[in-house]
Amino acid sequence: METVLSGIRPTGNLHLGNYFGAVKSFLKMQYEYNCYFFIADWHSLTTHPHPENIRKSVKTILSEYLACGLDPEKATIYTQSDVPEVLELYLYLNMNAYLGELERVTTFKDKVRLQPNNVNAGLLTYPSLMAADILVHRALKVPVGKDQEQNMEMARKYARRFNTIYGVEFFPEPASFHFSEKAVKVPGLDGSGKMGKSEGNAIYLRDDEQTIKKKVMKAVTDSGPTVPNSEKPEVIQNLFTMMEIVSSKETYDYFNEKYNSCEIRYGDMKKQLAADINAFCAPVRERITEFESDNAYLDKVAKEGAEKSRANAFKTINEVREIIGFKPYAK
Ligand code: ADP
Ligand code: TRP
Repeated sequence: METVLSGIRPTGNLHLGNYFGAVKSFLKMQYEYNCYFFIADWHSLTTHPHPENIRKSVKTILSEYLACGLDPEKATIYTQSDVPEVLELYLYLNMNAYLGELERVTTFKDKVRLQPNNVNAGLLTYPSLMAADILVHRALKVPVGKDQEQNMEMARKYARRFNTIYGVEFFPEPASFHFSEKAVKVPGLDGSGKMGKSEGNAIYLRDDEQTIKKKVMKAVTDSGPTVPNSEKPEVIQNLFTMMEIVSSKETYDYFNEKYNSCEIRYGDMKKQLAADINAFCAPVRERITEFESDNAYLDKVAKEGAEKSRANAFKTINEVREIIGFKPYAK
């Protein structure tokens, strides 16, 4: 079975965009592949978060993943900082990573622009750490968005370079992986493109009924069509796209017909949409609360995930040590 690996930085709560864009596919993948899903807490250090925030967000994201249905019996779910083997590989990879190529990575250049007073070495070597995450499990498929393409290219480069330097065929080249034939883009309801944390328009899985209602009722609309079957302007299309994602086909068809016959009442549509989003979120929300209050279970999941992940990472590192010329780990 092929190995799939993906990581997410613990920087906030999961929203509908994360769920329908990524998590939903993870749920399917966990039954079809040997999956590793990890919380990239070392990666989050580049912005120097407060220790309390790190602890909290790791717990939050783990609870939210589990609440969505990620199954620790099927997928290995772990926290990056529980697997120190990653750091050893990070060090080896850094020995063959060059300043020029690291400086050319777009995400690095973006960060230099965004945080000019904190251009630290961790930021520069972010692609080495990401490659170590992937290569330590010799993953073949890595589900990531387009923005990670250059980091993925670097990971392949690190794998090839290692193999060439040592004359081995040890690391496979990992490929970006898109699980759905058709990528889902969950729109924002504020008239802008996508839903996102940084866009400030996210509806979170843990939002309560009132909050969801408030956010949906605020959605931007227009004065309604005057010509039957007219094309929908972007803001209206966004509302319909959202409905297509969370509501039943009958509901979608009902409002679509109302739109086409110029009888649409956006207030009614939004109320229905808010109710449908809430119907989707309510059980997830409940499970988030349950998981979050069950520290013993979270610890157990994290511990078992760490053990499984470490066992596999250990195998890789032991072989890497031999290839490089070090003794294998003393058992
Ligand atoms: P954000 O910062 O907006 O929470 P991230 O950039 O951390 O999201 O993305 C985490 C995952 O969720 C990625 O796989 C990304 O493609 C997916 N994702 C985020 N927002 C959306 C969206 N609006 N539609 C579809 N997928 C999304
Ligand atoms: N860089 C990814 C992001 O910002 C997160 C990440 C870190 C990751 N290590 C990874 C993703 C390894 C996939 C594989 O979204």
